[in-house]
Amino acid sequence: MNVQEEVKILAIESSCDETAAAVVINGRDVKSNIISSQIDIHTLYGGVVPEIASRKHIERINQVIARALDAAGMTLADMDAVAVTYGPGLVGALLVGVAEAKAIAYAAGLPLIGIHHIEGHISANYIENKELEPPFLCLVVSGGHTHLVRVKDYGVYEILGRTRDDAAGEAFDKVARAIGLGYPGGPKIEQVSHKGNPDAVAFPRAKVTGSEYDFSFSGLKSAVLNYLNSCQMKNIPVVQEDVAASFQKAVVDVLVGNAVHAIEAYGADKFAIAGGVASNQTFRESIRKACGQRGVRFYCPSPGLCTDNAAMIGAAAYYEYSAGRRDDWTLNAIPNLKLGERG
Ligand code: KG4
Ligand code: ZN
Repeated sequence: MNVQEEVKILAIESSCDETAAAVVINGRDVKSNIISSQIDIHTLYGGVVPEIASRKHIERINQVIARALDAAGMTLADMDAVAVTYGPGLVGALLVGVAEAKAIAYAAGLPLIGIHHIEGHISANYIENKELEPPFLCLVVSGGHTHLVRVKDYGVYEILGRTRDDAAGEAFDKVARAIGLGYPGGPKIEQVSHKGNPDAVAFPRAKVTGSEYDFSFSGLKSAVLNYLNSCQMKNIPVVQEDVAASFQKAVVDVLVGNAVHAIEAYGADKFAIAGGVASNQTFRESIRKACGQRGVRFYCPSPGLCTDNAAMIGAAAYYEYSAGRRDDWTLNAIPNLKLGERG
């Protein structure tokens, strides 16, 4: 490990529909965290439109970075490195951040560090939990990923399980659209679920044969669609709140079930969650309870650090920086980058 006392990193994130920049010291001390969300624009189309996302990133990224430096009371001259998400994500969106980070790092004579988006989500846990150190287990649940990960050390990951089809967040988004809630699905389903009965409709809890920790959500999504169709054919009114609450409970049961299974098999004493779906209160409370019952310390970022942001990229980048990792000017966006693999 490098023994430099204070490492200040300017971090940039643009993998999907948030243009974000942050200044983070030593991976845990967030000096600024600016997020410019495009949700209002993509809502008009019922989901993220990749070309629009790229264009909006281009329009906003300079200003977002300037605001992040301003809010931290610093300039580029104070930074030790520039970090950027280079995958996975939408290629055009990623490219905007990567090109920007390269230009800034080159002009300011700073090292450049490309960060894996999921490593960023996992590292969001370090920000508010100063005592958290690997090893621990982490369940990353976002719009593009559902990964059960063993964090063996900083930057060292073993994927125990992943989704075979839809990511959990993707299922939330698709079901929300089907029941007329629109985009973004996760927060909307959570909101109406408060008024619904989670036991109203018996949706399936899929087990993936042959892999203990893998997930599958496409069957659940189809079950919801089938239920809606059969209600329509039988002229039975659909209670949106009940469908939402029953679907949410089915997702949470599967996520918590696999988590508990891994906790027991690996004798884990620390368990963390990350990603946009981790901001869901029902999920947070269920998994917190399951951990508590087993004497496992539970960690979760506050909701604003679960969804996409650049502070988490700055947190991850500190440990990569300390391990001596640097990228050169050939760094490129890799839309399907695998966790633990350098592209
Ligand atoms: O991590 P994230 O911001 O972006 C990706 O890396 O994908 O996650 C976005 C996903 C979306 O699918 C969104 O519907 C879901 O997280 N999400 C939620 C909630 N907030 C966001 N899902 C369930 N409950 C929520 N409160
Ligand atoms: Zn994300």
